[in-house]
Amino acid sequence: MKKIRKAVFPVAGLGTRFLPATKANPKEMLPIVDKPLVQYAAEEAVAAGIDTLIFIIGRNKRAIPDHFDKAYELEKELEENKKMSLLKSVQEILPPEVNCIYIRQSEALGLGHAVLCADPVIGDEPFAVILADDLIYNENENCLQQMVSAYEEYQSSIIGAELVPHDETHKYGIMAGLEISERVMRVDEIVEKPTPEDAPSDLAVVGRYILTPGIFEKLKTTQKGAGGEIQLTDAIAELRRDEKIYAYHFEGKRYDCGSKLGYLQANVEYGLMHEELGKDFKEYLKSLEI
Ligand code: UTP
Repeated sequence: MKKIRKAVFPVAGLGTRFLPATKANPKEMLPIVDKPLVQYAAEEAVAAGIDTLIFIIGRNKRAIPDHFDKAYELEKELEENKKMSLLKSVQEILPPEVNCIYIRQSEALGLGHAVLCADPVIGDEPFAVILADDLIYNENENCLQQMVSAYEEYQSSIIGAELVPHDETHKYGIMAGLEISERVMRVDEIVEKPTPEDAPSDLAVVGRYILTPGIFEKLKTTQKGAGGEIQLTDAIAELRRDEKIYAYHFEGKRYDCGSKLGYLQANVEYGLMHEELGKDFKEYLKSLEI
């Protein structure tokens, strides 16, 4: 069985729901308290055993590579001013053995197209896909670690899943199938953004995937789908004809940081959990008497 070593981070979307904040900066660089979303995603991947991070970047291409690169001037300045804990926070964003690869998606044609851009660097091995705007908190094993364990057990593609309110199915890929255990379902049907009337269930795809390399052949022929975009869900539906696919109902709390409300909720809750700020922030929130 091949180990999951590579993770793809599609960060080339237009992020229109956050304009004007995302006019010159990718949505995935928005901070939750003091770290950008993409850093939480990279840390989750590294903790799950990934050693190669592949970023699919878009028109605002510099911010993400700059964030993960060495910042000589800044480091020198912090060192001279003896700001050692800040220095550590910029030097230790990623462990030294982790490699970053950047690929340009020339046009935002959809998530499926963004994943296809990684084809030349993935090769014949299973890989993870993380959407950094789905921030997932779990005290113990993170979401991708849980999914890697499920992959090791089922040796098939694993799709991160969560139940959503019935009237929100049109925002997600929705799956239905055969329940195998408390957290695992064999996927028999998967559709992108169905109306509540057409949705086969309320089990939604969230921004975590482990995919077998067969997905690339399917993506090459996937036509534009919902919203006029090349959808990853449609390629997964095709892959399901050839291979078993499982949905994994992860343990943890997801914040939809692609929406303003989810983003604010994450900032409040991560603020309350923050080592330095948590206590004062809690007092402040109490004082608002809302
Ligand atoms: P979204 O559906 O959230 O789209 O993309 P978006 O463009 O980022 O945001 P809105 O809806 O306009 O506000 C889901 C994920 O897929 C990436 C995004 O960066 C995000 O992580 N994506 C989407 C790409 O990398 N390329 C694309 O062409 C589309």
